[in-house]
Amino acid sequence: MVTGTRLAYGQRMFAFAPTSGREKAETYRELVACAQALTSGEPDAVANMANLAALIWTFVPDLNWAGFYRVIAGAPDELVLGPFIGKPACLRIAIGTGVCGTAAATRTTQCVADVHAFPGHIACDAESRSELVVPVLRDGAVIAVIDLDSPLPGRFDADDAAGVEALAQAIAAQI
Ligand code: SME
Repeated sequence: MVTGTRLAYGQRMFAFAPTSGREKAETYRELVACAQALTSGEPDAVANMANLAALIWTFVPDLNWAGFYRVIAGAPDELVLGPFIGKPACLRIAIGTGVCGTAAATRTTQCVADVHAFPGHIACDAESRSELVVPVLRDGAVIAVIDLDSPLPGRFDADDAAGVEALAQAIAAQI
């Protein structure tokens, strides 16, 4: 439920939270609505990615890592760690390697049921068993990926992929 508004200068309590008992697709619709409300009008990409990582963490259960890797100026061949929730992670990933680098290289969502079976998977947290990585495109170019890790095998399905893809599209202009 969208119960809060974007915070500025400590104006009011932040209270975005999923409505309990909803179907997964509806929860993702709520997440996207909250993400738009939370980032609307804030031009700073780091601030927005930090809040988005926290929002994903709040709405999506059974995660051990949630956050962003970005394509930054001067380093077109790699992804650089962005704001996240979870254990400290590898700083840079070559585009084309690992789950994140594959999502960026192919511009396609990578839904990995068993990370140990994914060739070149980069283990940042030994607890991770499954992973969902969605590229964020702006003007046809990959500007970032959203990376979710879970300690549960097979945690992510087509609803998760569609939900995070909708989120990526909704926030592409804000990060
Ligand atoms: N597992 C990722 C690396 C990033 S961490 O999961 C945070 C990969 O293979 O690209």
